[in-house]
Amino acid sequence: MAIKMIYILDTADTKKIARCCEFYPIDGVTTNPTIISKEHEDFGKLIKEIRRIIGSDKMLHIQITASTCAEIIKEAEAIRDYVGGNLYIKIPISAEGLKATARLKKMGMKVTETAIFTQQQALIAARAGADFVAPYVNRLDNIVSDGVNVVLETVELLKAHGLDTKVLAASFRTVEQVHKIAMAGTHAVTLNPALLDALIYHPLTETAVQGFSNDWKSIYGDKKILDMLG
Ligand code: E4P
Repeated sequence: MAIKMIYILDTADTKKIARCCEFYPIDGVTTNPTIISKEHEDFGKLIKEIRRIIGSDKMLHIQITASTCAEIIKEAEAIRDYVGGNLYIKIPISAEGLKATARLKKMGMKVTETAIFTQQQALIAARAGADFVAPYVNRLDNIVSDGVNVVLETVELLKAHGLDTKVLAASFRTVEQVHKIAMAGTHAVTLNPALLDALIYHPLTETAVQGFSNDWKSIYGDKKILDMLG
């Protein structure tokens, strides 16, 4: 079946979230403790404000900070009760995290297994029940230039094993990385707002639009289409 790649915002900056949601086809927001701490805001107030801006239907992925299964579950329940809506609990992959993933799924919660660097981490997270697995493309490219291959093979592996888990590719720096990951068949990408803006920019697009404007003005002056169709 054809994949319609989902765009998610990788930021907790509420002004940028509001702007991107206004202009771009965004299906949700991902955060992690680094992204949250950049805002220097109260955690609870911040995630509630993000939820208010994006509404209850869009995905909100919030990462736990606990490292044992019992504590992860407590944090997940607290986050769910506090922020509500279409929520995904992000858990960095570990043995405790996989145990928590299976338990949270039984409790009816959704999970994104994060900090994924190998295809086998993704496969076992999927078997534990993760809804999304999040491979870190740029961080992989920094060490082995292999981000695309990890995503490509993860997509294939999940399909070959008949698993419904989706790939949410994360950690991007360039438009080229996003393009290659889209070609690899990822189900979703999470991007920072600047990269989202970069995705739609091309200098020749600006030149083309300037040309349209100049040619129109050379014949019709300041008249607009609406002035001429009244
Ligand atoms: C998102 O889920 C990840 O936490 C994030 O994309 C990591 O990206 P970074 O490598 O830019 O920190």
